[in-house]
Amino acid sequence: MKDPTRPQLTRRDFIRTTATAAAAVGAITAAPFVARGQVLGANSKLGVGFIGVGGRGRSHVNTIARMVKAGDPLQILGVCDAYAFRAEEVAKQTGAKIYKTHHDLLAEKGIDVVCIATPDRLHVPQALDAVRAGKDVYCEKPMGHWSQATLSRQFCLETQKFKRVVQIGNQGNSSKAWRKVAELVRQGVVGRPQHVQAGYFRDGDWGERMHIPDKSAKPGPELDWAGFLGDAPKKPFTVDRFFSWRKYLDYAGGPCTDLFPHVFTPFVSILGLKFPSLAVGSGGILKFDTYDREVPDTFNMCLDYPERLSVTIVCTLANGYPTEPAIRGDEGTITLQGPVWELGFDGVTVIPRKGQPTKVPGDKSDSVFAHWQNFLECVRTREKPVADVEFGYRVQVALNMAMLSYLEKKVATFDLEKEEIVLS
Ligand SMILES: NC(=O)c1ccc[n+]([C@@H]2O[C@H](COP(=O)([O-])OP(=O)(O)OC[C@H]3O[C@@H](n4cnc5c(N)ncnc54)[C@H](O)[C@@H]3O)[C@@H](O)[C@H]2O)c1
Repeated sequence: MKDPTRPQLTRRDFIRTTATAAAAVGAITAAPFVARGQVLGANSKLGVGFIGVGGRGRSHVNTIARMVKAGDPLQILGVCDAYAFRAEEVAKQTGAKIYKTHHDLLAEKGIDVVCIATPDRLHVPQALDAVRAGKDVYCEKPMGHWSQATLSRQFCLETQKFKRVVQIGNQGNSSKAWRKVAELVRQGVVGRPQHVQAGYFRDGDWGERMHIPDKSAKPGPELDWAGFLGDAPKKPFTVDRFFSWRKYLDYAGGPCTDLFPHVFTPFVSILGLKFPSLAVGSGGILKFDTYDREVPDTFNMCLDYPERLSVTIVCTLANGYPTEPAIRGDEGTITLQGPVWELGFDGVTVIPRKGQPTKVPGDKSDSVFAHWQNFLECVRTREKPVADVEFGYRVQVALNMAMLSYLEKKVATFDLEKEEIVLS
C-alpha cells in the first residue's frame, strides 16, 4: 500500500530531481549573491588564515603552501591555535602572523578566507564569528557538534545573510570516484534508488586516543583552556580532554559524527536528499571500555527519507573487515569496491536486474586539493561550492538525529516546519 504521507516519486521524477542534485556534485550552481559587491578576478590575491593547526589544520596549511608554491595567488597571513606551540610551528613554516585567539585573527582585514580545523564543538561558533566578520570559510567536518542543532541552523542562515562562501570539509564531494557514481545514478542505471547501505570499519581506537605531546601541559599563556571549551560545559582541565578530545561527548560524537561524514555525505549529494523524516541510532562501547572513553566504538545509523528511500550506515572499531557500499534501486544495484574512503575507491560495479554486471574504474586522486580548488574558485566567483553550508546543514541534521536517538534511546523525527528534531 502507498504511504499517503510520502511524496510518490516516479522513476522519471527521480531522474529529473537527481539530475539537479548530481549537477551540484559535479558542477557548481549559481549563488544568489555577490560578496562585497564584487566578483574577484582570477589573479587577485587572497589572504588565508588558519584557526586550529593540529593534525588536520597542519595538513591544510601544507595544501595551501603547495598551491602558493605552484603560483596560485594566495598568501598565508595568519594562524591561531589554543596550543601556542602549534601556531608557532606554522608561523615558522609559512611566515604567517600569530594571533592569540580566532577573534583577533578575524579582525585582520587582509584575511579573506579562513580554514577552521578545531575540535568539532568549535566549528559552528567560530564559523559564525567568521561570516559575521565578512570572511569566507573552509570549515572542517562535521559541520557542528551533535548538541548544536539550533546553532548550525543559525550558521546556515547567517552565511546567506552575510553573503559568504562556505565549504564544509567533506572532500568526498570533490572526489572523481563519487562523481562517477552520481553520473551513473543520474543515467538511471539503478532506476529509482530505494536503499543505501554503507559502513566504516576500523581495527582500533587510535582515532580517539589522540597523541598527547606534553603530559604535564597546563592552562596558561601557551594553552587556552577556556578557548578550547567554547560553549561546552565548564569542566576542569585535563591533558586528556584537551589533546584527546575525540574520546569525550562534550566535544565529539564518535563514529557517527567523526567517520560517517565521509561515507554518508556523498550519498546525500548524489541522491539529492533533504532532511530525514525518521532516524534511529544504536551501538555503544562494546570493545574499548578500559579507559574513560565516552563516545561509542560501535554505531549504526538508520535513516528514512521522505524521498521514499532508506539509508543504513554501520561502524565498528573492533574489526576492520569492510562491507561493500551499495545503492539499490528498482532496476539495479551499484556497489562500490573498497576501501571506500574520503579519497575515493577502487571501482564501481553496476548490476542491472537484467543483463551482465559492468565494472567502472574508481579514482583516488587528491580530493582534498580538488575541494580547496573548488572553494577558492567559488570565493572568486561567489558561486556555491560543492559542499556548501546548506548542504552541510542537511547532513548535520541527519547525524544529530541519529546521535540524539542513540543517547536518549528514542526515535528521532524531524519537524520540517519548525526545523526541529523531535524525540519520542
Ligand atoms: N576531512 C577530513 O578528512 C578530516 C580529517 C581529520 C580531521 N578532520 C576534522 O578536523 C578537526 C580537527 O581534527 P584534528 O585531528 O586536527 O584535531 P587536533 O586536536 O589535532 O587539532 C585541533 C587543533 O585545534 C586547536 N584548538 C582548540 N581550541 C581552539 C581554539 N579555541 N582556537 C584555535 N585553536 C583551537 C587545538 O589546540 C589543536 O591544535 C576535527 O573536527 C576533525 O573532524 C577532518
